[in-house]
Amino acid sequence: MKTILVGVCGGIASYKAIEIVNALCKKDYDVHVIMTKNATEFIGPLTFQSLSHNPVVTDMFNPIDKWDTKHIQLAKKADLFLIVPATANIIGKIACGIADDMMTTTIMATTAPVIIAPAMNTNMWENPILKDNIHKLSAYGYRVLETEQGHLACGDIGRGKLLDWQDIIKIVESSLQ
Ligand SMILES: Cc1cc2nc3c(=O)[nH]c(=O)nc-3n(C[C@H](O)[C@H](O)[C@H](O)COP(=O)(O)O)c2cc1C
Repeated sequence: MKTILVGVCGGIASYKAIEIVNALCKKDYDVHVIMTKNATEFIGPLTFQSLSHNPVVTDMFNPIDKWDTKHIQLAKKADLFLIVPATANIIGKIACGIADDMMTTTIMATTAPVIIAPAMNTNMWENPILKDNIHKLSAYGYRVLETEQGHLACGDIGRGKLLDWQDIIKIVESSLQ
């Protein structure tokens, strides 16, 4: 059974990660979810825990039930790490080598392929700093997915919408072959 880590960030599209985790679990992948602290403002870890049947990690230091460097354990266990939705913030942090929470530390520690599925407001998506960060991540071998054009949650119309979640599943599965 292949292990997929799903990293959920604090964006409005985080609810779509629920469909993705649900679909991957039904396809018999061993799915482990890491949420940023900000992601928990949008949705609760219990949803992912119930769907994946695995504990959801949100905190680097609490709880430590036994001497267990969870980020290393998860990083080694992963066949693939999918970050969905990826915020502008997480993209910037990874591109700068920041590892200040469970999500970024595990990304730094893994040697598995990392797929980043961004979602954000059009102006954020078109910001040259973000573009530079994506370029940098691509050069390091991270796969950064495109976004779609459409109605955004903020009311704007433009690019920055999360790729259709079913297309994300197809990309994940083809990357695991
Ligand atoms: C209602 C709301 C919606 C947001 N949606 C997004 C989003 O879609 N994409 C994004 O990059 N940031 C979004 N943000 C901003 C992020 O939550 C913020 O940058 C945060 O620091 C991200 O933290 P994280 O990357 O650690 O999860 C949103 C904020 C709020 C309050």
